[in-house]
Amino acid sequence: MRVIIQPDYEKLSAWAADYVVKRINEAQPTAEKPFVLGLPTGSSPQGMYRNLVKTYKEGRVSFKNVITFNMDEYVGLPEDHPESYHTFMAENLFNHIDCPKENIHILNGNAPDLEAECANYERMIVEAGGIDLFLGGIGPDGHIAFNEPGSSLTARTRQKTLTTDTRIANSRFAAFHNNPEEVPATALTVGPGTVMAAKEVLILCNGHNKARALQAAVEGPVTQMWTISVLQMHQHGIIVCDEAACDMLTVGTYKYFKDIEKL
Ligand code: GLP
Repeated sequence: MRVIIQPDYEKLSAWAADYVVKRINEAQPTAEKPFVLGLPTGSSPQGMYRNLVKTYKEGRVSFKNVITFNMDEYVGLPEDHPESYHTFMAENLFNHIDCPKENIHILNGNAPDLEAECANYERMIVEAGGIDLFLGGIGPDGHIAFNEPGSSLTARTRQKTLTTDTRIANSRFAAFHNNPEEVPATALTVGPGTVMAAKEVLILCNGHNKARALQAAVEGPVTQMWTISVLQMHQHGIIVCDEAACDMLTVGTYKYFKDIEKL
Protein backbone atom coordinates (compact mmCIF):
# COMPACT_ATOMS: atom_id res chain seq x y z
CA MET A 1 0.00 0.00 0.00
CA ARG A 2 1.15 3.54 -0.69
CA VAL A 3 0.18 6.27 1.76
CA ILE A 4 0.67 9.72 0.26
CA ILE A 5 0.72 12.41 2.92
CA GLN A 6 -0.14 15.89 1.68
CA PRO A 7 0.00 19.07 3.79
CA ASP A 8 -3.69 19.95 3.43
CA TYR A 9 -6.97 19.27 1.67
CA GLU A 10 -6.18 21.49 -1.31
CA LYS A 11 -2.94 19.66 -2.06
CA LEU A 12 -4.55 16.26 -1.47
CA SER A 13 -7.32 17.14 -3.93
CA ALA A 14 -4.86 18.35 -6.57
CA TRP A 15 -2.71 15.25 -6.12
CA ALA A 16 -5.70 12.92 -6.57
CA ALA A 17 -6.99 14.76 -9.63
CA ASP A 18 -3.52 14.77 -11.24
CA TYR A 19 -3.28 11.04 -10.61
CA VAL A 20 -6.63 10.35 -12.27
CA VAL A 21 -5.75 12.53 -15.26
CA LYS A 22 -2.38 10.82 -15.61
CA ARG A 23 -3.98 7.38 -15.58
CA ILE A 24 -6.64 8.33 -18.15
CA ASN A 25 -4.13 9.97 -20.47
CA GLU A 26 -1.64 7.10 -20.19
CA ALA A 27 -4.37 4.62 -21.13
CA GLN A 28 -5.23 6.65 -24.27
CA PRO A 29 -8.81 5.34 -24.09
CA THR A 30 -10.87 4.77 -27.23
CA ALA A 31 -14.52 3.81 -27.76
CA GLU A 32 -13.35 0.21 -28.21
CA LYS A 33 -11.05 0.28 -25.21
CA PRO A 34 -12.44 2.78 -22.70
CA PHE A 35 -10.98 3.66 -19.32
CA VAL A 36 -13.25 2.49 -16.50
CA LEU A 37 -13.41 4.66 -13.40
CA GLY A 38 -15.13 3.92 -10.06
CA LEU A 39 -16.39 7.09 -8.38
CA PRO A 40 -17.32 8.15 -4.84
CA THR A 41 -19.52 10.85 -3.35
CA GLY A 42 -19.22 12.68 -0.03
CA SER A 43 -17.30 15.77 0.94
CA SER A 44 -13.85 14.16 0.59
CA PRO A 45 -13.80 13.98 -3.23
CA GLN A 46 -15.32 17.42 -3.87
CA GLY A 47 -11.95 19.17 -4.18
CA MET A 48 -10.69 16.48 -6.53
CA TYR A 49 -13.79 16.87 -8.71
CA ARG A 50 -13.24 20.65 -8.84
CA ASN A 51 -9.70 20.02 -10.06
CA LEU A 52 -10.85 17.45 -12.63
CA VAL A 53 -13.38 19.91 -14.05
CA LYS A 54 -10.71 22.61 -14.21
CA THR A 55 -8.28 20.26 -15.95
CA TYR A 56 -11.00 19.27 -18.45
CA LYS A 57 -11.77 22.94 -19.16
CA GLU A 58 -8.09 23.58 -19.79
CA GLY A 59 -8.21 20.80 -22.42
CA ARG A 60 -5.77 18.55 -20.56
CA VAL A 61 -8.13 15.56 -20.27
CA SER A 62 -11.24 14.22 -21.94
CA PHE A 63 -13.85 11.87 -20.49
CA LYS A 64 -15.32 10.94 -23.89
CA ASN A 65 -14.00 7.41 -23.67
CA VAL A 66 -14.29 7.03 -19.91
CA ILE A 67 -16.95 4.78 -18.42
CA THR A 68 -17.93 5.45 -14.82
CA PHE A 69 -19.52 3.39 -12.06
CA ASN A 70 -20.52 5.13 -8.86
CA MET A 71 -20.08 3.38 -5.55
CA ASP A 72 -23.48 3.74 -3.99
CA GLU A 73 -26.89 5.37 -3.80
CA TYR A 74 -29.55 5.73 -1.13
CA VAL A 75 -32.63 3.52 -1.38
CA GLY A 76 -35.95 5.29 -1.85
CA LEU A 77 -34.61 8.83 -2.21
CA PRO A 78 -35.95 10.45 -5.41
CA GLU A 79 -33.20 10.75 -8.02
CA ASP A 80 -33.64 14.54 -8.10
CA HIS A 81 -33.48 14.91 -4.28
CA PRO A 82 -30.72 17.44 -3.44
CA GLU A 83 -28.86 14.79 -1.38
CA SER A 84 -29.17 11.91 -3.85
CA TYR A 85 -25.87 10.74 -5.25
CA HIS A 86 -27.32 11.23 -8.74
CA THR A 87 -27.69 14.93 -7.94
CA PHE A 88 -24.28 15.09 -6.28
CA MET A 89 -22.52 13.60 -9.29
CA ALA A 90 -24.34 15.82 -11.78
CA GLU A 91 -23.50 18.96 -9.80
CA ASN A 92 -19.94 18.11 -8.86
CA LEU A 93 -18.75 16.45 -12.06
CA PHE A 94 -20.95 15.22 -14.87
CA ASN A 95 -22.64 18.56 -15.73
CA HIS A 96 -19.21 20.06 -16.34
CA ILE A 97 -17.33 17.45 -18.39
CA ASP A 98 -17.70 15.61 -21.71
CA CYS A 99 -18.50 12.14 -20.32
CA PRO A 100 -21.37 10.79 -22.48
CA LYS A 101 -24.57 10.06 -20.57
CA GLU A 102 -24.59 6.44 -21.69
CA ASN A 103 -21.14 5.93 -20.11
CA ILE A 104 -22.34 6.96 -16.64
CA HIS A 105 -23.61 4.29 -14.25
CA ILE A 106 -25.18 5.04 -10.88
CA LEU A 107 -27.16 2.47 -8.92
CA ASN A 108 -30.92 3.05 -9.00
CA GLY A 109 -32.15 3.09 -5.41
CA ASN A 110 -35.73 3.22 -6.68
CA ALA A 111 -35.54 0.13 -8.90
CA PRO A 112 -38.57 -2.17 -8.49
CA ASP A 113 -36.25 -5.15 -7.91
CA LEU A 114 -33.22 -4.00 -5.92
CA GLU A 115 -31.55 -7.39 -5.97
CA ALA A 116 -31.75 -7.54 -9.76
CA GLU A 117 -30.47 -3.95 -9.95
CA CYS A 118 -27.37 -4.93 -7.95
CA ALA A 119 -26.73 -8.12 -9.93
CA ASN A 120 -27.07 -6.17 -13.16
CA TYR A 121 -24.60 -3.56 -11.91
CA GLU A 122 -21.96 -6.21 -11.28
CA ARG A 123 -22.64 -7.65 -14.74
CA MET A 124 -22.21 -4.24 -16.39
CA ILE A 125 -18.86 -3.75 -14.64
CA VAL A 126 -17.64 -7.07 -16.01
CA GLU A 127 -18.94 -6.22 -19.49
CA ALA A 128 -17.04 -2.93 -19.36
CA GLY A 129 -13.84 -4.89 -18.79
CA GLY A 130 -13.61 -4.34 -15.02
CA ILE A 131 -12.73 -1.15 -13.19
CA ASP A 132 -9.30 0.31 -13.96
CA LEU A 133 -9.20 2.78 -11.09
CA PHE A 134 -11.64 2.83 -8.19
CA LEU A 135 -11.68 6.09 -6.24
CA GLY A 136 -13.18 6.20 -2.77
CA GLY A 137 -13.53 7.97 0.55
CA ILE A 138 -13.67 6.64 4.10
CA GLY A 139 -16.43 7.09 6.64
CA PRO A 140 -15.36 8.09 10.17
CA ASP A 141 -16.08 4.46 11.20
CA GLY A 142 -13.82 3.15 8.45
CA HIS A 143 -16.52 2.21 5.97
CA ILE A 144 -15.82 2.17 2.27
CA ALA A 145 -18.77 3.02 0.01
CA PHE A 146 -21.65 1.97 2.32
CA ASN A 147 -19.97 -1.18 3.62
CA GLU A 148 -20.62 -0.58 7.26
CA PRO A 149 -18.66 -2.23 10.09
CA GLY A 150 -19.50 -5.92 10.06
CA SER A 151 -19.89 -6.19 6.28
CA SER A 152 -18.41 -9.22 4.58
CA LEU A 153 -15.10 -8.21 3.05
CA THR A 154 -15.82 -10.27 -0.06
CA ALA A 155 -19.37 -8.96 -0.59
CA ARG A 156 -20.47 -7.61 -3.96
CA THR A 157 -23.08 -5.00 -4.83
CA ARG A 158 -26.16 -5.29 -2.62
CA GLN A 159 -28.52 -3.44 -0.31
CA LYS A 160 -27.08 -2.47 3.08
CA THR A 161 -28.64 -1.06 6.21
CA LEU A 162 -26.87 2.10 7.33
CA THR A 163 -25.59 2.37 10.88
CA THR A 164 -26.92 5.03 13.22
CA ASP A 165 -23.43 6.57 13.12
CA THR A 166 -23.57 6.97 9.34
CA ARG A 167 -27.11 8.37 9.38
CA ILE A 168 -26.01 10.93 11.99
CA ALA A 169 -22.82 11.78 10.04
CA ASN A 170 -24.70 12.20 6.74
CA SER A 171 -27.54 14.21 8.27
CA ARG A 172 -25.13 17.18 8.21
CA PHE A 173 -25.84 17.66 4.50
CA ALA A 174 -28.25 20.58 4.06
CA ALA A 175 -31.37 18.87 2.72
CA PHE A 176 -31.29 16.30 5.53
CA HIS A 177 -31.63 19.19 8.03
CA ASN A 178 -29.31 17.62 10.63
CA ASN A 179 -32.04 15.02 11.14
CA PRO A 180 -30.73 11.43 10.93
CA GLU A 181 -34.31 10.22 10.40
CA GLU A 182 -34.33 12.00 7.04
CA VAL A 183 -31.29 10.00 5.88
CA PRO A 184 -32.56 6.82 4.22
CA ALA A 185 -32.12 3.71 6.36
CA THR A 186 -30.63 1.65 3.54
CA ALA A 187 -28.52 2.09 0.43
CA LEU A 188 -27.33 0.10 -2.54
CA THR A 189 -23.58 -0.19 -2.52
CA VAL A 190 -20.75 -1.94 -4.29
CA GLY A 191 -19.13 -4.44 -1.94
CA PRO A 192 -15.56 -4.50 -0.67
CA GLY A 193 -15.16 -7.39 -3.14
CA THR A 194 -16.22 -5.13 -6.01
CA VAL A 195 -13.67 -2.48 -5.00
CA MET A 196 -10.95 -5.09 -4.53
CA ALA A 197 -11.54 -6.46 -8.04
CA ALA A 198 -10.47 -3.11 -9.52
CA LYS A 199 -7.00 -2.97 -11.03
CA GLU A 200 -6.12 -0.05 -8.79
CA VAL A 201 -7.79 1.67 -5.82
CA LEU A 202 -7.21 5.26 -4.67
CA ILE A 203 -8.76 6.35 -1.37
CA LEU A 204 -9.02 9.97 -0.22
CA CYS A 205 -8.89 10.66 3.50
CA ASN A 206 -8.80 14.09 5.09
CA GLY A 207 -9.44 15.78 8.39
CA HIS A 208 -8.94 14.97 12.04
CA ASN A 209 -12.30 13.16 12.26
CA LYS A 210 -10.87 10.50 9.93
CA ALA A 211 -7.73 9.93 12.02
CA ARG A 212 -9.03 6.78 13.74
CA ALA A 213 -10.21 5.35 10.44
CA LEU A 214 -6.85 6.02 8.78
CA GLN A 215 -5.02 4.43 11.68
CA ALA A 216 -7.24 1.33 11.39
CA ALA A 217 -6.78 1.24 7.61
CA VAL A 218 -3.00 1.47 7.69
CA GLU A 219 -1.85 0.00 11.01
CA GLY A 220 -4.75 -2.14 12.16
CA PRO A 221 -5.53 -5.74 11.22
CA VAL A 222 -7.71 -6.59 8.24
CA THR A 223 -11.13 -6.70 9.83
CA GLN A 224 -14.78 -6.48 8.85
CA MET A 225 -15.18 -3.89 11.63
CA TRP A 226 -13.12 -1.38 9.60
CA THR A 227 -14.02 -2.37 6.06
CA ILE A 228 -11.44 -0.02 4.51
CA SER A 229 -8.75 -2.24 6.06
CA VAL A 230 -9.34 -4.76 3.23
CA LEU A 231 -7.25 -2.40 1.09
CA GLN A 232 -4.21 -3.92 2.78
CA MET A 233 -4.86 -6.99 0.62
CA HIS A 234 -4.87 -5.05 -2.67
CA GLN A 235 -1.77 -5.14 -4.85
CA HIS A 236 -2.24 -1.55 -6.00
CA GLY A 237 -3.88 0.34 -3.15
CA ILE A 238 -3.13 4.01 -2.49
CA ILE A 239 -4.41 6.27 0.27
CA VAL A 240 -3.87 9.98 -0.19
CA CYS A 241 -4.42 11.85 3.05
CA ASP A 242 -3.73 15.18 4.69
CA GLU A 243 -1.65 15.87 7.80
CA ALA A 244 -4.74 16.18 10.02
CA ALA A 245 -5.86 12.64 9.19
CA CYS A 246 -2.43 11.32 10.29
CA ASP A 247 -2.90 12.33 13.92
CA MET A 248 -3.25 8.76 15.17
CA LEU A 249 -0.54 7.08 13.11
CA THR A 250 2.60 6.19 15.02
CA VAL A 251 5.55 8.48 14.32
CA GLY A 252 7.36 5.50 12.80
CA THR A 253 4.55 4.74 10.35
CA TYR A 254 4.25 8.39 9.41
CA LYS A 255 7.99 8.71 8.75
CA TYR A 256 8.14 5.46 6.82
CA PHE A 257 5.46 6.46 4.33
CA LYS A 258 7.05 9.88 3.93
CA ASP A 259 10.43 8.22 3.28
CA ILE A 260 8.99 5.90 0.62
CA GLU A 261 7.67 8.82 -1.38
CA LYS A 262 11.02 10.65 -1.23
CA LEU A 263 12.63 7.90 -3.33
C1 GLP B 1 -20.70 8.19 2.82
C2 GLP B 1 -20.39 7.51 1.49
C3 GLP B 1 -18.97 7.04 1.42
C4 GLP B 1 -18.04 8.14 1.86
C5 GLP B 1 -18.30 8.49 3.30
C6 GLP B 1 -17.43 9.60 3.82
O1 GLP B 1 -21.26 7.39 3.77
N1 GLP B 1 -21.25 6.41 1.22
O2 GLP B 1 -18.67 6.62 0.10
O3 GLP B 1 -16.70 7.76 1.71
O4 GLP B 1 -19.66 8.90 3.41
O5 GLP B 1 -17.97 10.81 3.46
P1 GLP B 1 -17.25 12.21 3.56
O6 GLP B 1 -16.27 12.22 2.45
O7 GLP B 1 -18.34 13.20 3.36
O8 GLP B 1 -16.64 12.27 4.90
